[in-house]
Amino acid sequence: KCECGISLMKAKLQIINAELGMRFGRKVIHSMSSRIKSYDSIAAKLKRKELPENPQAVREHINDMVGIRAVCTYTDDLYQIAEMLCAQKDMRLLKKKDYIKKPKKSGYRSLHLIFLVPISFQAEVYWIKMEVQLRTAAMDYWAGLDYQLQYKKENCEAKNIGRELKEYANAIQQIDSKMLELRKWIEAI
Ligand code: GTP
Ligand code: MG
Repeated sequence: KCECGISLMKAKLQIINAELGMRFGRKVIHSMSSRIKSYDSIAAKLKRKELPENPQAVREHINDMVGIRAVCTYTDDLYQIAEMLCAQKDMRLLKKKDYIKKPKKSGYRSLHLIFLVPISFQAEVYWIKMEVQLRTAAMDYWAGLDYQLQYKKENCEAKNIGRELKEYANAIQQIDSKMLELRKWIEAI
């Protein structure tokens, strides 16, 4: 069922990509990836949240068991995509976490949307939660390296490394907004 949810969400994103591609005359989604959280990571997360290891706790408290990430070209594209997803009547937005307007302490930036998506299976409807992460290529580059180097790791120099990474996150954010300005400038010519 999780796999079906992924196919469904990917199809929705592809349709949006096609529509916006036609409207804007350029690519808005660079790439997409997906993953289903492993049993071990789910168990670890429940433990971190001090919750019991049972299906009900997973259903109620784990929002990112199924995850899709779409890497977009510009920051305004990503909000446009989010708006079009939220407007769809065949699924429900549960939660929105805007780490672009309000980056995490680490410097992490992305727009996270949690949807409830109905999957009809053997004459029953299963509502599954999915986390959609929307970010620009620059944000993705930073998050990838941060993940490799630091995220969720303990280390005696963690504070200093974290500070360094945060500075790079700021630099990357500046490039993102400059690129957007440049595009708008060119479009206005
Ligand atoms: P977890 O961080 O997975 O325990 O989930 P959460 O419920 O705290 O949600 P949150 O919105 O904080 O983060 C969800 C996802 O965003 C993570 O699984 C990562 O993919 C990504 N993420 C959040 N913070 C960071 C960060 O500081 N660095 C990196 N590289 N990724 C992050
Ligand atoms: Mg977290």
